Parts: sequence; C-alpha cells; structure tokens
Amino acid sequence: MKKTILTGLKPSGKLHIGHFLGLLQGLKGYIEDYDAHIFIADLHSLTELRDDYSAENKRKEIFEMTVDAICLGVDPEKCVFFTQSDISEHSELAWIFNCITPVSFLERMTQYKDKAAKNVKNINMGLMDYPVLQAADILLYDADFVPVGVDQVQHVELSRDIARFFNNKFGKTFKEPQPKLTNIPKVMSLTHPDKKMSKSDGEKSCIFLSDEPEEIMEKIKKAVADKVGLENLYKLGEIFISEFNKANYKDNNLKLKTDLATAIADHFADFRAKRKEWLKKDKEIEKILAKGAEKARAIASKKMIEVRKKVGLK
Ligand code: TRP
Repeated sequence: MKKTILTGLKPSGKLHIGHFLGLLQGLKGYIEDYDAHIFIADLHSLTELRDDYSAENKRKEIFEMTVDAICLGVDPEKCVFFTQSDISEHSELAWIFNCITPVSFLERMTQYKDKAAKNVKNINMGLMDYPVLQAADILLYDADFVPVGVDQVQHVELSRDIARFFNNKFGKTFKEPQPKLTNIPKVMSLTHPDKKMSKSDGEKSCIFLSDEPEEIMEKIKKAVADKVGLENLYKLGEIFISEFNKANYKDNNLKLKTDLATAIADHFADFRAKRKEWLKKDKEIEKILAKGAEKARAIASKKMIEVRKKVGLK
C-alpha cells in the first residue's frame, strides 16, 4: 500500500519560477510514488483579500491555478485532485478543531506574525486561523506526509498537535502527519536581488511560468547584475542550463543572461503550450474537478461522520 501525501495549492495569481522550484516541480513525482491528494486551497486564499478584490478575479485565479497544476503534471486520473471549497467538511472540521486549539498556539505561528506585521490594516481572523484550516485539510485524509518548505513546518507540527489533542480527548481518530521537507532554492528578485522573488516587487522582478520567450529575455537582460544579482543568475544557471560552468561566463554577463533566458524559455515551452490549450477548456476542467470532488468527498464525509459521533453531534 502506498503512503498518502497531501498538499494544497493556494491560488494567488501567476506562478513564477520561485514557486516552481519550491513545491511545484515535485508534484509529478509525488503522484507516481504516493497516494496523492492535491487540492486548490481557495478558502485559504481568502485570507488575503486585496483592496482591488473582485469575485471575477478570484474565480480566474482559482481556474488558472487548476490549469497550471494540470499542466505541471498533476494527472487527475492518478490522484485525488479537487477544490477545497467543494468539500464543506474542511470548514466544518476546522471549526471543531478551533474549539480544541489554544489561541496562544496560533499567536506564535511565525507566518501569522509576519503577515500580521506586513498587513496591519487587515489582520483578519482567517489569517490567524489559517493553520487550523490547514490541519483540517491534512487530517481529514489521514495524510502520512505533507511536502513543505521550512517556513511551513510549523503548520504541520500544529496539525500533529491538533491530531493528538483530539485523539486524547475523543479517542483515536486522526493520524499524525509528517512534514516532508522539500529543498527550496531561494530565488531572488531580478530587480532587487537582495529580496526574494515576489510579484509584490513588480512584474519585471519575476519570471512567470507563462512568460513568452521574448519577455523572459527582456527581463533577464535587464536583471541587476551586481554581486548578489550575479550570484542569483549563476544559481539559476546551475538549475536551468545543462552542463553549466561558471567559468564559461567569466566577464561575460551578456552571454550568461542570453543563455539563461533561452534555457528557461525552453524549460517551460511544453508548459506554455499545454497551458494555452487548457485555458480554453473550462468545461472540461469543471468535469475534472467534479470527479475529483466526488473522490475527496467519499473520504472526507466518512471521516466527518466519525468525528461528529465522537464529539456528540448528530
Ligand atoms: N499553506 C499552503 C501554502 O501557503 C497551502 C495549504 C493549504 C496547504 N492547506 C494545505 C499545504 C495543506 C499543505 C497541506 O502554500
């Protein structure tokens, strides 16, 4: 029997190579090696409502995250692939977990503290409760492993705590999941190489997976190539250029930049082509997600019946 792995993909606009080198490039392998459960974490994405928020835009982000996952190799036939909000058990279980989770545990989550510090105008309850919903996502499906970067280990640890609290109080119900650390190379902004690549630093600072070769070339050519900037380009060279040798580029930043841009564009050529096709197939995506929801619901509702019974609900 294969072990179960589970991960959520939070839709938050276009994916860049930082996202790819983190979790996303591993997804295909997880599906081969594990009983994989992969979902679009649309509810989690609501904790970051922007001033220019619109339902239409949100729908588009969710749709595009779904398309991107498929184009990156998430084969819906070979795993359980669904949308979080289609399965109301996630929210329901999160509420029950809320009632056994000390507020102090959530107050010390570093991601919460960072987001709250950056976003003083919108420290909403969802931001604080985020890891409890994440625990519900994970524990509903008895996940053995949750692939995460170091910054999310704390959330998986909290899921373990919550599983234990629940099991102690109501009897053995949940499995304690293990974080599966993914090695995430830190990709820096092209325009401010002292900062992590992020859309908040502007479109020109990121290479998006959907960027056309010309855009990639233009952005990389304009990339800051001071000491840290150059280190970042070398790091990307090592990842994307085959048989990369730093010495070949000594005093030749232009060659480094052109080779790198070409290599990155080639690397995502297949992705770009697939993506253009899938973006047109919204009806098919709907069908895929409906089927995925059916598979997920069968597991989640069974678990939730057990939980309700154990806590004394109908
Ligand atoms: N927090 C994850 C992120 O920021 C998304 C996520 C939601 C998730 N639920 C999850 C990841 C459950 C792993 C398991 O990307």
